[in-house]
Amino acid sequence: MTNYLIKGAKPYGGEAADIFLKDGRIASIGEHLRVPGADVIDAAGLVALPGLVDLHTHLREPGREDAETVETGSRAAALGGFTAVHAMANTDPVADTAGVVEQVWRLGQQAGLVDVVPVGAVTVGLKGERLAELGAMADSAARVRVFSDDGMCVSDPALMRRALEYVKAFDGVVAQHAEEPRLTVGAQMHEGDRSARLGLAGWPAAAEEAIIARDVLLAGHVGARLHVCHVSTAGSVELLRWAKARGVQVTAEVTPHHLLLTDACAEGYDPVFKVNPPLRTAEDVAALRAGLADGTIDAVATDHAPHAVEDKESEWAAARPGMLGLEQALSVVVETMVETGLLDWAGVADRMSVRPAVIGRLTEQGRPLAPGEPANLLLLDPSTRATVDPAALASRSRNSPYAGRELPGRVVATFLRGVPTVLDGKAQK
Ligand code: DOR
Ligand code: ZN
Repeated sequence: MTNYLIKGAKPYGGEAADIFLKDGRIASIGEHLRVPGADVIDAAGLVALPGLVDLHTHLREPGREDAETVETGSRAAALGGFTAVHAMANTDPVADTAGVVEQVWRLGQQAGLVDVVPVGAVTVGLKGERLAELGAMADSAARVRVFSDDGMCVSDPALMRRALEYVKAFDGVVAQHAEEPRLTVGAQMHEGDRSARLGLAGWPAAAEEAIIARDVLLAGHVGARLHVCHVSTAGSVELLRWAKARGVQVTAEVTPHHLLLTDACAEGYDPVFKVNPPLRTAEDVAALRAGLADGTIDAVATDHAPHAVEDKESEWAAARPGMLGLEQALSVVVETMVETGLLDWAGVADRMSVRPAVIGRLTEQGRPLAPGEPANLLLLDPSTRATVDPAALASRSRNSPYAGRELPGRVVATFLRGVPTVLDGKAQK
């Protein structure tokens, strides 16, 4: 295989150094490295970070290959600087058996652009009635450790308790989509002054917070790991802070869109901004940024949710919730967290690579940029700003909430185990 000598990159934004990638690993990092025979990449001015790890990606295969496939979603991920993504279970058929998770895992290997890590459903068919075969999925070739009914909440507390007890046996984690369904019947956007004025049914913050409060108590009681998906309210951050202070094994993620956008986006009734949980208030956004900065929120996860045109470009109430995220995630974090001084580059690496890998129990991802480690990394040009053009995205869908918006940062290269998946900003497959 080709070996690469990356010249003059700034690991974690620090002093410029050369990084030598050999046989899939970082062989050395230092000044003025000379390696005859290696391909040289000029990385002057570029920031080197560990490859990003997404805990929450909807790849839509099997079932909705018109919206995304494992291959197109993998390409979008690589272009965004990711080297691993967790593929959510709400496919058709649902990923609730060893057979389906192995199928997704194999498709990921065939695409070969990122490590595709299947998430297993908690309940059969996401119906919230009976536990799926969690043990069989954990023991399968896909080695599932993250279980989620995402899109749906595991709302029955007794079933949630049993899921936590079950995954504890193999160090798994239940990733909860926190939404009390009895409080969000017909909900279209964040419940507040604006939803009343726009005449759209509201999704109250309490519907999320009630489930988080319940589940951290259950996780503490059982002594199992709980992960909270796409936290969206200031009150949720407060609950997580309280639970962590009590020693509950809880982790949480926030999406790029909840870090940047507010419910004001609903004003024009453009369904590209319809998402679940909904975009919240500016005060919630500030609390989410602060929670991510102080580590109360562990990770950024995209909730990349591709939708076909006919499912998205309709009137607001009929449109599916969800928005694209993979290709702009790092740029949004640069804008909301780095350029605001809330996180440095090491902090970005921690929240977008290290901690998500630990939560997913991935041992070869989220590793430091250091000799001997797997060569999973990205090179970012932080000085470029570009306007997002949905037509230019690698995703098969076009529902980007950032269309027409100028964002900072461009992923120039991504390496997966020493092999470039992206070079010069272009996917290599
Ligand atoms: O907006 C969302 N879209 N939220 C979810 O929980 C599911 C997702 C999807 O699958 O489209
Ligand atoms: Zn969700």
